[in-house]
Amino acid sequence: MGFTIAIDGPAASGKGTISKAVARHYDFGHLDTGLLYRAVGRRMLDGQEPVAAAKALLAEDLAADGLRIPEVAQAASKVAVIPEVRAALVDFQRAYARRAGGAVLDGRDIGTVICPDAEAKLFITASAEVRARRRYDELCANGVQTDYQTVLADTRERDHRDSSRADAPLLAAGDAVVLDTSDMDIGAAVSAAIAAVDAAYART
Ligand code: DC
Repeated sequence: MGFTIAIDGPAASGKGTISKAVARHYDFGHLDTGLLYRAVGRRMLDGQEPVAAAKALLAEDLAADGLRIPEVAQAASKVAVIPEVRAALVDFQRAYARRAGGAVLDGRDIGTVICPDAEAKLFITASAEVRARRRYDELCANGVQTDYQTVLADTRERDHRDSSRADAPLLAAGDAVVLDTSDMDIGAAVSAAIAAVDAAYART
């Protein structure tokens, strides 16, 4: 039987790192669903119509270079507002969630819309300032020229767009375990996430 772990939260909350570590811990597959929206955003920046791009998306697109840059993140957040784009990406995500051997999916609407019946749900969050600082450090480490205030403004803009859209907004599922990582290092956050999943597993 499959076991699905849904991990949602805003940008730079730590959910990506936590999801990878959780998947490794349980030897589950991991799908970073933000990559789907980033790949569509990338295609929009290249001049394609986003709904057509979403319908034509291939698994190979998720491995493309350059999907992690801020310009693509903003484009992803814009295409993610379009209901037809979201609809075109649902089947791929649900099929992944049902894969044999267990799956971790991370995103914004996994526990609420994509996998409302997931066996374990986590909502990872942190203050906008802490998340912007983490993203800023990460961008600097990758050689991207930027400044903290720009990253903070960008983080707030994306939070606002992701939380206020009508279709599948960023929202903790009622039955998600909420983990605020503002004052946690990544090791502590991963341990807390695994403890929450173990508790959910014990209930199944
Ligand atoms: O997680 P990320 O930063 O790679 O996501 C990029 C954008 O994609 C994010 O701003 C909103 C959108 N997204 C979404 O709407 N639903 C998801 N499940 C994942 C991402």
